[in-house]
Amino acid sequence: MQDRSVLITGSASGIGRAACERFLSAGWRVVAADYNASAGEALAREWSSAFPATDGRPRIRFVRADVSLEADVEAAVAAARELGGRLDCVINNAGVGGAFGPIDEISVADFDYTFAVLMRGVFLGTKHAVRVFKAQGDGGCIINTGSIAGISGGSGPQTYSAAKAAVLNFTRATALELAPRRIRVNSVSPGVIRTPLSESGKQDVGAAMAGFQPWPGTGEPDHIARVMEFLAGDGAEFITGENIVVDGGLLAGGARLDDRIGGNPAMRNLVGVNRGSTGERHAWRKL
Ligand SMILES: NC(=O)c1ccc[n+]([C@@H]2O[C@H](COP(=O)([O-])OP(=O)(O)OC[C@H]3O[C@@H](n4cnc5c(N)ncnc54)[C@H](O)[C@@H]3O)[C@@H](O)[C@H]2O)c1
Repeated sequence: MQDRSVLITGSASGIGRAACERFLSAGWRVVAADYNASAGEALAREWSSAFPATDGRPRIRFVRADVSLEADVEAAVAAARELGGRLDCVINNAGVGGAFGPIDEISVADFDYTFAVLMRGVFLGTKHAVRVFKAQGDGGCIINTGSIAGISGGSGPQTYSAAKAAVLNFTRATALELAPRRIRVNSVSPGVIRTPLSESGKQDVGAAMAGFQPWPGTGEPDHIARVMEFLAGDGAEFITGENIVVDGGLLAGGARLDDRIGGNPAMRNLVGVNRGSTGERHAWRKL
């Protein structure tokens, strides 16, 4: 694993930060890219002492990049290739909440900004990673951060939700295109994960988070980073075009009508079988 190199965008906070730490711990060389230069550079300094250079080359480098700008993304991809002597993986993770509010009040500028960061950023990261992967000629790996908001309504602002849905289908479409070259493209869709993004502007959200999903406890950035590490590794060799939802069972609950209407009170404390309209008798016993 020593000489594998990865570019991780949105590295200065939350999920991207956890991914940098996980990949560094696993022996990768990491180029950490973020819009926020002061936070990103401070972290890179910490990581440089925790993960010192090997073979005369640093293990970590920070690059200031706006993922919505092609020149920035191209330079970040090139930096990762230079650091490792080759490029193995790009993680398109940078994100913002973007436009919010009633649909009839949202400005075109805010809509475009949201799509530029969330969707154009993934397009540019993929485009420039693929140029390098094709030149290397031995495959590659792209991981995009989606969201449960890209799968259903009701999990985020409408523009964010639409941009994340676009990311998920862009992942599938590019996976098909690139499979013959052994370039794998997958996405990870977090549920509610404790990061500055999910906590911003919401009152007491930290305290409420533990109860959001069926799984006890809170979604943490490393829950997502661990799945990214798996997707980048040899164990995921035959996985492409996949979206892995990491949400503690939140989406599995679907409409959760039982929770909302409290179930059928007459059936509480009973166990048995309902044989429907078959004419056969139902059976039950008290617990
Ligand atoms: N936290 C959650 O609950 C959650 C849920 C679903 C999906 N996500 C997604 O996970 C990803 C990471 O989010 P997070 O929760 O870690 O948020 P975060 O705010 O903690 O980190 C996001 C990072 O992206 C950077 N960034 C923003 N715009 C950028 C740009 N134009 N160019 C480069 N960097 C930029 C920020 O500076 C920040 O460091 C995002 O794509 C987000 O949509 C998060």
